[in-house]
Amino acid sequence: MSRVLVTRRLPDGGLDPLVEAGHELIERDKDTPLSHDELVATAPTVDAIVCLLTDRIDAEVLEAGAGRLRVVANVAVGYDNIDVASATEHGIAVCNTPGVLDETTADLAFLLILAASRLASDAEADLRDGRWEGWGINQYLGRDVHGAVLGVVGFGRIGQAVARRATGFGMEVLHHARHDTGFPGYIVDLDDLLSLADIVSLHVPLSPETRHLISRAELERMKPSAVLVNTARGPVVDEVALAEALETGAIFAAGLDVFEAEPKVHPRLLAAPRTVLLPHIGSASLATRTRMARIASEGARAVLSGETPANVVGA
Ligand code: GLV
Repeated sequence: MSRVLVTRRLPDGGLDPLVEAGHELIERDKDTPLSHDELVATAPTVDAIVCLLTDRIDAEVLEAGAGRLRVVANVAVGYDNIDVASATEHGIAVCNTPGVLDETTADLAFLLILAASRLASDAEADLRDGRWEGWGINQYLGRDVHGAVLGVVGFGRIGQAVARRATGFGMEVLHHARHDTGFPGYIVDLDDLLSLADIVSLHVPLSPETRHLISRAELERMKPSAVLVNTARGPVVDEVALAEALETGAIFAAGLDVFEAEPKVHPRLLAAPRTVLLPHIGSASLATRTRMARIASEGARAVLSGETPANVVGA
């Protein structure tokens, strides 16, 4: 029997693989993150950690755990919150949750594509605040989604799921990825994709190469009528440059589910016009979050049993 730290309360049934294997679970009763100091203090006392993307599992935590800690299972597909190189150095496996959240996240990307293009947040805010004085032919004139060119940046599972939806909406789909995907619509150069697309949707993982992938120069390449959607990771976009582009009309609108310094949202983005903002809910359906928790738990269980799970990303 091993000791497993679960850093936050997970959806019901999410920990079943670990429970059924008889492991001792150190579960928190609060739905607030552990402090970094608490993580460092607890890491040496457990064999596994099941954590969330809000937990920073850095070299300090991993060094503290080294010797006993065997696996860190992130209940997320992105794992930029974990220092995988340091985990590998200490022989600690890292698992994530690929595959189970693609469709749910693609649904949300589409929600933002539609809501940002049609100015849904500005219009709803006016209605709720009593500023709507009746139907007007010149009110809330958005951009059509049907017939638009969608530029998908990053063509992994989620990017492809967004592209499938776009076809149903009568859109033309182009995509850019670091390597030729072999799929129709592949554009080698990101700048070309940005200048051709009416709507740009980001689906790259966060890495040193993708940090501020969309900054001032890239926003200037986009059409003044373009819409930018980010459901990937906040730091992929330079938020100050984006706020400026929205303020000056360099691009038309934006839909964001992720932010550079979550849970803080840059005040200029909060005040920016034609912007739809959501609190990182891309994978937030009950079924998907439950599946994510189970896959992470199953990864941890497998490592603790000496198996190599399919969802291992390091060590
Ligand atoms: C959510 O953002 C995830 O990476 O799973």
